[in-house]
Amino acid sequence: NWSMEDFIDMQVAKIRQTVGDQKVLLGLSGGVDSSVVGVLLHKAIGDQLTSIFVDHGLLRKGEAEQVMDSLGGKFGLNIIKVDAKDRFLGKLAGVSDPEKKRKIIGNEFIQVFDDEATKLKGIKFLAQGTLYTDVIESGTDTAQTIKSHHNVGGLPEDMQFELIEPLNTLFKDEVRELGEKLGMPHELVWRQPFPGPGLGIRVIGEITDEKLQIVRDSDYILREEIAKHGLDKEIWQYFTVLPGIRSVGVMGDGRTYDYTIGIRAVTSIDGMTADFAKIDWDVLQAISVRIVNEVDHVNRVVYDITSKPPATIEWE
Ligand code: XMP
Repeated sequence: NWSMEDFIDMQVAKIRQTVGDQKVLLGLSGGVDSSVVGVLLHKAIGDQLTSIFVDHGLLRKGEAEQVMDSLGGKFGLNIIKVDAKDRFLGKLAGVSDPEKKRKIIGNEFIQVFDDEATKLKGIKFLAQGTLYTDVIESGTDTAQTIKSHHNVGGLPEDMQFELIEPLNTLFKDEVRELGEKLGMPHELVWRQPFPGPGLGIRVIGEITDEKLQIVRDSDYILREEIAKHGLDKEIWQYFTVLPGIRSVGVMGDGRTYDYTIGIRAVTSIDGMTADFAKIDWDVLQAISVRIVNEVDHVNRVVYDITSKPPATIEWE
């Protein structure tokens, strides 16, 4: 029966012993797991840790700034931020199939990470936010190795890293507790899940800058209102999607022909099944009014009332 303080002390000692005076690399995604690994490693080995944060241009509003201000600023991590928006959007131009989009984003991510990692010299270890659930899901030791290699991605042959996975005995709720004990901000530690392909799968079909902007701005309003009404812990995941259809509306004396925004909000335990969140009409109305008033080119807001199954949580 150990406490989280004991866990921190043990891990710090273990990391120091493993790493010695060598250097460690970490890929920060902005999510809970890699952020907690970053803060824990920084506590143990300080500037021997270098982190790479790839901004693929598909992040939520304020997300990159939050990672840089909080982890880079307050916690003092050495973070290389890569602005790869043009690279990603270039590759995604004209692509509308969801699985193709996922593949492009995943591959490009690995390439950008590799490009940066290759520039760094003398790195011996690669840190990852693997959780206990990832370890048991992949089963045997062999499967774990395959998965680790897979996570490392297409790193160049001559770059051989040893893995450091300090969270691999913890469940998600324990990682959050660890983050809080390490003094990390509540918003970071209690983040709702966010998919790797980011807003790229919330603009349905072809991704354009304008559509990304619309989904990003409407998502921000939704998040603000959900937090304001104290629903952020109760609702497992909530976001907006841009289906790409346009419909007729009326604004003042004029007719409009603009986009529809869909709101998705679900309760769930693990994302495998989900129920649409029974949000108060008044709250939904406040969200709808704000989105239509504040986001250009949106004249209609709809609420997704399907459960999973048969629908999935994301629309793509
Ligand atoms: P679905 O849409 O399959 O989503 O019901 C279940 C959970 O998985 C997340 N999700 C993803 N996460 N890469 C990710 O890292 C993906 O391609 C991806 N697709 C879905 C989704 O946000 C939800 O939490």
